[in-house]
Amino acid sequence: MDTAVVLLIAYLLGSVPSGLWVGKLFYNKDIRESGSGNLGATNTFRVLGKKAGIAVTLMDILKGTAAVLLLEIPAFADSGVHPLTLGIAAVIGHMFPVFAKFRGGKAVATSGGVILGYSWPFFLVLIASFLVILKLTKIVSLTSMAMGVIALIYAIINYIRTGDLYLLIVVLVLSAFIFYRHRANIGRIKAGTEPKVKWL
Ligand code: G3P
Repeated sequence: MDTAVVLLIAYLLGSVPSGLWVGKLFYNKDIRESGSGNLGATNTFRVLGKKAGIAVTLMDILKGTAAVLLLEIPAFADSGVHPLTLGIAAVIGHMFPVFAKFRGGKAVATSGGVILGYSWPFFLVLIASFLVILKLTKIVSLTSMAMGVIALIYAIINYIRTGDLYLLIVVLVLSAFIFYRHRANIGRIKAGTEPKVKWL
């Protein structure tokens, strides 16, 4: 299959606006009009509650995983693209979804899904760190950015051990996306106005 076609499919997978569709279909609510206004799992928890939040978290993760695993489909296997490049395409889709006027999320869950599709031990390290840091800080955005840093440290150590430079470069790109998309959160954290989760 042509590289461009597979990349497009990965982008379209990432573009599925889970939070928007779950909100509109089951709650008759546009999550972009409440809370932080972000089209992501955290704002889904905030606006629609735990059940929808968990569903959207899983969907946003699986978008990234599915994109990385596209090459497992025999028709795509010879497309000459690295699985992690497909992951980046999915995360770009998540941030700039064609199905939601290009106003998407902050790259966190879908990046996690990309890592899950590529290396589940790496994903487990991230999930465990996420839960510990969230428990300590109670601020999801801060925890998400900490994940960007922890992922980088992991990828550097992994590079030293295995020589996987491509993973290191992709993690660098994904972490940059995460920090860039959290600009408003960084301002609120500095001002002490960033909301904290109450349920942890
Ligand atoms: O995954 C996004 C999260 O880190 C922040 O979301 O809605 O609090 O801006 P939000």
